[in-house]
Amino acid sequence: MNAHLKHIKDKLEQRKAENAFRKLKINHNLIDFCSNDYLGLASETEIHILDEVVAETFGATGSRLISGNHKATEEVEAFLAAYYKAESALIFNSGYNANIGVFSSLPQRGDTIIYDELIHASIRDGIRLSHANSFSFKHNDTSALEDKIKNAKGHIWIAVESIYSMDGDEAPLKDLIQVCSKYDAALIVDEAHACGVFGEKGEGLVVEYGLEEEVFARVATFGKAFGAHGAVVLGNKLLREYLINYSRAFIYTTALPLPSVLAMKKAHTFLANNVARIVELKELISYFKRKIRNSTFKIVESVSSIQCLIVPGNNEARQLADNIQNKGFDVRPILAPTVPKGQERLRICLHAFNTEEQIDGLIKAIGISL
Ligand SMILES: Cc1ncc(COP(=O)(O)O)c(C=O)c1O
Repeated sequence: MNAHLKHIKDKLEQRKAENAFRKLKINHNLIDFCSNDYLGLASETEIHILDEVVAETFGATGSRLISGNHKATEEVEAFLAAYYKAESALIFNSGYNANIGVFSSLPQRGDTIIYDELIHASIRDGIRLSHANSFSFKHNDTSALEDKIKNAKGHIWIAVESIYSMDGDEAPLKDLIQVCSKYDAALIVDEAHACGVFGEKGEGLVVEYGLEEEVFARVATFGKAFGAHGAVVLGNKLLREYLINYSRAFIYTTALPLPSVLAMKKAHTFLANNVARIVELKELISYFKRKIRNSTFKIVESVSSIQCLIVPGNNEARQLADNIQNKGFDVRPILAPTVPKGQERLRICLHAFNTEEQIDGLIKAIGISL
């Protein structure tokens, strides 16, 4: 074995020794308590069927600045801007790309980025690509944020998620906005897990609270509750022009194929006509929370589709998830290093299509008495 292969083999062995080895798994026919398809839109054929426009051109044929900017793409962006009550929307190929594109290009050398300690990996990676100084603040703690802001230099950029991906809990958006406006800091909100679930038509938490004017930029992603793919950055028209000019994750990549772009609009139109899905999901979330209230597990308080039971230890969390899967329920463990050691968990995703009977079965399989 050559030195390079030996090096990667050693790193893999290290993961195995830490019980944190990741393996791809083919989805089987278990009851879904792990996907981000919160509203069941991924299997709505009306959204994903190919139509005439797509029959003509499937692939985008180039980056948006070369040959990949189709009339349909700009129409979808205008539609999404209106849907999310924003001045403009710019499509990125995924939420990961959008965060890389925003955080690597907006903050400049001499600026300061301050981010919630539980921020998603895509934002961390974007921050690593920027030349700005960066600091984390204690999760959801606005006074800790204020302490960090006081020492910040240059333009100040604050990064939060409205619903945190690993805990499912909510950011204190109104308090964050107060701190940001006191220090003239720009708040950027990743709404990946709030889109589709909060707001009258799934516009996210920022719109639910009427804060869209207060926030500098929002990232809405469509691979989760919208059952599709891709993302938009929402904000001022100048922000859109800036990203088109400076965001390398936007500039140097082939645009999404047209079916993905058109599916974004179809998924939003579908949800606007079927908002009962959101109500059904909320009812199931309340049902689940009532049922687990008295369990002995440490529970992360969450109003979202993501509900977590803390099971410290990679081995323990994996073992419990395996047992539950063997009983027919697809629940995945979230292990260190994705979450800090000791915070390993079962991350249960609830969906509008789950039933109360399925939830009862899952709770029994976890070992909580009903
Ligand atoms: C908070 C958050 N932001 C961004 C992303 C990335 O979005 P996408 O899956 O569209 O790349 C995710 C997905 O894991 C996420 O949880």
